[in-house]
Amino acid sequence: KRLIFIGPPGSGKGTQSPIVKDEFCLCHLSTGDMLRAAVASKTPLGLKAKEAMDKGALVTDELVVGIIDEAMNKPKCQKGFILDGFPRTVAQAEKLDEMLKKRGTGIDKVLNFAIDDSVLEERITGRWIHPSSGRSYHTKFAPPKTPGVDDITGEPLIQRKDDNAEVLRSRLAAFHTQTEPVIDYYAKKAVLTNIKAEKAPQEVTSEVQKALS
Ligand code: AP5
Ligand code: ZN
Repeated sequence: KRLIFIGPPGSGKGTQSPIVKDEFCLCHLSTGDMLRAAVASKTPLGLKAKEAMDKGALVTDELVVGIIDEAMNKPKCQKGFILDGFPRTVAQAEKLDEMLKKRGTGIDKVLNFAIDDSVLEERITGRWIHPSSGRSYHTKFAPPKTPGVDDITGEPLIQRKDDNAEVLRSRLAAFHTQTEPVIDYYAKKAVLTNIKAEKAPQEVTSEVQKALS
């Protein structure tokens, strides 16, 4: 399967991706996770991306298209993939079409994680992540067994630098102006399914599974 998960910050893309990935043996390609790893290790890519990410703006299409093109060549991605947070502009969606055409494939399904803006601040400000695995928790909705500690490795959890109310406003603005047109782009291609992302995590999982079965 070749899938796209699209939705605003905090809509649950990163929470549902690992579940779907394991179920269908796909690779999980999150441009946000890949960019954060590049920023943390101060690679040339990370240095170029940091400023935009810190203020909640999108990085350039060129940067993200490059990392996705490279990632899709990995052997583990040949069975299929989930694109989490990509494409986020119509230009990225067009580039993706070209990349897939070149490989003789296409997108099977695009899931739109539909949710009201008003619930996102609580989700974003309560999120804690385990940086090396990308696992995420929430102080209220998905607490770790021990506060501040990853369940599996016992390593410390951190908060993302862009997970505060002020930067969230910019991320939401970027979503509405630049990413919403991408939803229309896929609706016109008749590959779009809407997911009610406001429900509890397990209910969202069932809806996602139904959409993919
Ligand atoms: P990215 O990392 O993609 O951030 P985002 O789109 O803002 O999305 P989030 O990761 O915040 O949301 P999510 O839907 O994954 O939420 P999660 O499941 O973790 O991008 C970061 C930055 O990188 C961008 O701002 C940009 O600068 C750059 N970038 C990335 N891709 C780019 C691209 N293609 N082009 C240009 N720039 C790009 O859930 C959030 C919290 O809620 C968690 O704590 C979770 O436990 C909790 N939760 C999840 N589901 C539920 C539920 N159903 N009920 C209650 N709580 C829930
Ligand atoms: Zn995410």
